[in-house]
Amino acid sequence: MPQFNGSRLANKACLITGAASGLGRVAAERFAAEGANVMIADLLDGAEAVEEITRAGGVAAQMICDVTSEESWISVVKATIEQFGTIDVVMNNAGVMLSGDDDPVATSLEIYHRTMDINVMGTLLGCKTVIPEMLNRGGGVIVNVASFVAHMGAATPQIAYTASKGAVLAMTREIAVTYARRGIRANALCPGPVMTPLLAEFLRDDEARERRRIHIPMGRFGEATEIAHGAVFLASEESAFMTGQSLIIDGGITAAYTTPVD
Ligand SMILES: NC(=O)c1ccc[n+]([C@@H]2O[C@H](COP(=O)([O-])OP(=O)(O)OC[C@H]3O[C@@H](n4cnc5c(N)ncnc54)[C@H](O)[C@@H]3O)[C@@H](O)[C@H]2O)c1
Repeated sequence: MPQFNGSRLANKACLITGAASGLGRVAAERFAAEGANVMIADLLDGAEAVEEITRAGGVAAQMICDVTSEESWISVVKATIEQFGTIDVVMNNAGVMLSGDDDPVATSLEIYHRTMDINVMGTLLGCKTVIPEMLNRGGGVIVNVASFVAHMGAATPQIAYTASKGAVLAMTREIAVTYARRGIRANALCPGPVMTPLLAEFLRDDEARERRRIHIPMGRFGEATEIAHGAVFLASEESAFMTGQSLIIDGGITAAYTTPVD
């Protein structure tokens, strides 16, 4: 749990989806540690995350939310404004990488549609619901979580996931340009592999982990806090002149042609 020692997001009302676990939860903790009032929106119960943040002196609330449902979005945005008075930041973090997601031949359309619904439509609905509120109050910040796979192809494919993250990145750029003169900034955060439940599910055995690890120039998986620090930067005024960009935090993967050997 981070120390409550910062003010980079002092009194900012921040809505983070998928924040009951994984990267979103650590981002929620980090945002709260920087003074934000955090709304945790997830399909899962976020009570434990709220408790932990509150115990450490931060401010957080939670609501069960399905990012694929427009009604759910309307409710959670309303609850955030009721609770914290406004909405300064939305971090569209909820996402899935489904087992059965493979190459284009093997992947079922069911997997494709579920992935696109959660990762792409969920992000679009977040922007669709939050942007009018942000315009009313004169601006705001959108952080969309894509992935390094929005920039690179992998020979161990997850075609639906990769396509979904490419779409999130492209959508972020367009939103950024559309609202650039109306006070809204939008950037994509592109993490490399971090051992959250999402990735652990995929890389269950040592061989699968090692196959991924050797492609990371730093020779290790990332830590969720290392991604959360990037999210704080994008959400805060520190990135005030930055919009439509992709912040890649990946241990060097996207910079590499070959990787060092151990
Ligand atoms: N872990 C990685 O290596 C990695 C790398 C690049 C990008 N990402 C992205 O980071 C984001 C977070 O991933 P993570 O690794 O923390 O995964 P995770 O599985 O640990 O957490 C994802 C959270 O999203 C929630 N969620 C799923 N579907 C939802 C829905 N329909 N409505 C609301 N909430 C929903 C889950 O309940 C869960 O709490 C995802 O967008 C993922 O694609 C992760």
